[in-house]
Amino acid sequence: GAIADRIERICVAHEGSEGPLLPILHEVQATFGCIDTAAETIIARCLNLSRAEVHGVVSFYHDFQAEPDPRPVVQICRAEACKARGVEKLVAGARTAAGDRVRIEDVYCLGLCSVGPNARIGDQMHARLDAEALARLIDRA
Ligand code: FES
Repeated sequence: GAIADRIERICVAHEGSEGPLLPILHEVQATFGCIDTAAETIIARCLNLSRAEVHGVVSFYHDFQAEPDPRPVVQICRAEACKARGVEKLVAGARTAAGDRVRIEDVYCLGLCSVGPNARIGDQMHARLDAEALARLIDRA
């Protein structure tokens, strides 16, 4: 299918590079949000590894997920302009508000530098955040 084709193309793009497995896994994770059994099988075939070997690496690294993460995501900008506008003071509180229910993701510039600190949920931008506004956003995510 189309997904298998895309995974194969990712594999081919890394062919011949040294230690291609991790870069391939990172790209598949970034593209599809997870690396499931079917993806492991394709990657194993492309690299002449067993699926068990690929699975071993996928389960070893915290970066890789076997299933898509179903939690809502709140992206917090931690690039320079938002740092200058105080985002670092908000991060710990955001993580507490998120708990295990919401995934907090660091991003680097959302393109609204003059009105930071900024966060994004889905395609909604939220600007000029303070601790309270950010906690409220996370609660509603
Ligand atoms: Fe945060 Fe640009 S630095 S939006």
